[in-house]
Amino acid sequence: MKKIVILISGRGSNMEAVVRACARDGWPARICAIISNRPDAAGLGFAAANGIESKVVDHRQFDGRESFDAALAGEIDRFEPDLVVLAGFMRVLTDAFVTKYAGRMLNIHPSLLPCFPGLRTHQQALDAGVRVHGASVHFVTPALDHGPIVAQGAVPVIAGDDAAALAARVLKVEHEIYPRAVRWFIEGRLTVEGERVALTPSEPQWLFADVAGEGA
Ligand code: GAR
Repeated sequence: MKKIVILISGRGSNMEAVVRACARDGWPARICAIISNRPDAAGLGFAAANGIESKVVDHRQFDGRESFDAALAGEIDRFEPDLVVLAGFMRVLTDAFVTKYAGRMLNIHPSLLPCFPGLRTHQQALDAGVRVHGASVHFVTPALDHGPIVAQGAVPVIAGDDAAALAARVLKVEHEIYPRAVRWFIEGRLTVEGERVALTPSEPQWLFADVAGEGA
């Protein structure tokens, strides 16, 4: 049984998608804990309602990134996880923290990396005029929103979209690709070769959104 700790900062819908898929599909894994850096994160309610241990490590209680990350690592390590899943965890992490969990920490970012790292990715996509946008699951490396890509989901940018409409379309594919990617990790099927992630046995590491009826 592999152990997973999930880090959130807010709504937690990706965390929920992973938790539900783990239970529904009988993964050989257990979600040991949900850790939030914000006491008001809505996702903490889901954790409580589903009997998952949760913990808040409030970044505002610390005087710097190093001390916060050290406290966070202390909480994570209590659960001895095989995998740390960042699910809308909105903190820039120190190199020391990232290095500690190298090869066993995944993140989901709401863009087709390497396009649009950072914040406001949907507005960035609209401003750049791209016609295809999406989300990426990647191993976390010290460079922000960078690292070997495990899976990507693509959606069209539809005439009249604003950032909220685009975000909602992307979020649907996030909820598909993140549970898949986490399951692949749990099943020991991912190998990192430089910037590339091989999946064995292979299956599509991409997903194109089904947007029938959305005017695409
Ligand atoms: C998601 O869209 C996720 O991709 C993004 O925040 C949202 C969290 O939603 N993450 C980042 O921007 C990380 N840089 P959720 O709390 O409902 O999963």
